[in-house]
Amino acid sequence: MSTLKRVALGTQGLEVPVEGLGCMGMTGGINGMSVYGEADEKESLATLHRALELGVDMLDTADLYGPMLNERLVAKAIAGRRDQFTVATKFGFEVNDHEQWTGGYNGRPEYVRKSVERSLRNLGTDYIDLYYLHRIDPATPLEDTVGAMSRLVEEGKVRYLGLSEVSADELQRGHAVHPITALESEYSLFDRRVEEEGILQAAADLGIGFVAYSPLGRGFLSGEIKTPDDFEPNDSRRFFPRYQGENFYKNLELVEKLKTLAATKNVTPAQLSLAWVLAQGVVAIPGTKRRKYLEANVAAASIALNATELAELDAIMPIGSAVGAAYPAGF
Ligand SMILES: NC(=O)c1ccc[n+]([C@@H]2O[C@H](COP(=O)([O-])OP(=O)(O)OC[C@H]3O[C@@H](n4cnc5c(N)ncnc54)[C@H](OP(=O)(O)O)[C@@H]3O)[C@@H](O)[C@H]2O)c1
Repeated sequence: MSTLKRVALGTQGLEVPVEGLGCMGMTGGINGMSVYGEADEKESLATLHRALELGVDMLDTADLYGPMLNERLVAKAIAGRRDQFTVATKFGFEVNDHEQWTGGYNGRPEYVRKSVERSLRNLGTDYIDLYYLHRIDPATPLEDTVGAMSRLVEEGKVRYLGLSEVSADELQRGHAVHPITALESEYSLFDRRVEEEGILQAAADLGIGFVAYSPLGRGFLSGEIKTPDDFEPNDSRRFFPRYQGENFYKNLELVEKLKTLAATKNVTPAQLSLAWVLAQGVVAIPGTKRRKYLEANVAAASIALNATELAELDAIMPIGSAVGAAYPAGF
């Protein structure tokens, strides 16, 4: 299997594979929930090691995942070969000293420092390649948070800065304080808000790299989830409006059309969805805790889509076609 193409992410010198690995599902989720079903540590670690062999050397984690457990798992995978990986982690969902999400956000300068020290410890490293503000704290000016993050770069604790799920205006404001290397936001055929709201364009105009998270619509675009009962009892997707009740079945109709097109190309719907994201000129971080999906996702990077196929996909899932909110209320 071929290794992945590498691209510049942002304009500060960071180079990454066109696909990174989303690690979120490899441990439990927030406050006792599973993310996308139960994870097996042995298979997760095997997936992380296989990723490196395939050139998928950018790992995406966050202090929130687990909380902390995900970073500690990544630490096991990178131990002894730290320099071969680009490690991206995030802070900003406030995690307390009992390692629970408080339900709030914290972007205060003292919390920025506390968070980075904690993540460095969890990851067993003395630097983070890409440090994202996971969500803006509405009670702290963004400039103060990014200002505190920029001091971490000066101190060598962090190499590059990123923001996640911000508006075009917020992206510009953060970038004015310190160069932002990457914006990580949800982007897939299933969720095209960043196109609709001019965010993708703003990132391109500012020379900020775009990292698409949930590029498979949290697995829904794979076509393998056929009823809401396919989710394990404490699978977090049960709480996301898009995967509930009537919304689930309306959205499934879109996936059925995707399946038909994928069959004509002899690829899976997951691979077709990923190929579409990559065709938009962004970096994607599909999440998986299994080697077989990782390998299928790497293969998807070699799928070429012509103009007719891109137009067909656009017609199947135009902007705004998915029904239901992206996140549960209050998240
Ligand atoms: N910045 C943010 O706010 C934010 C938010 C969400 C996610 N993220 C990051 O983005 C990463 C990716 O997003 P995501 O994990 O939410 O969603 P995703 O990549 O769209 O989908 C992940 C789901 O798809 C399944 N899957 C993966 N490859 C597949 C394939 N080839 N065929 C069939 N099913 C496949 C996975 O199954 P298995 O789990 O069984 O392997 C998992 O259930 C996360 O891991 C996380 O690091 C960031």
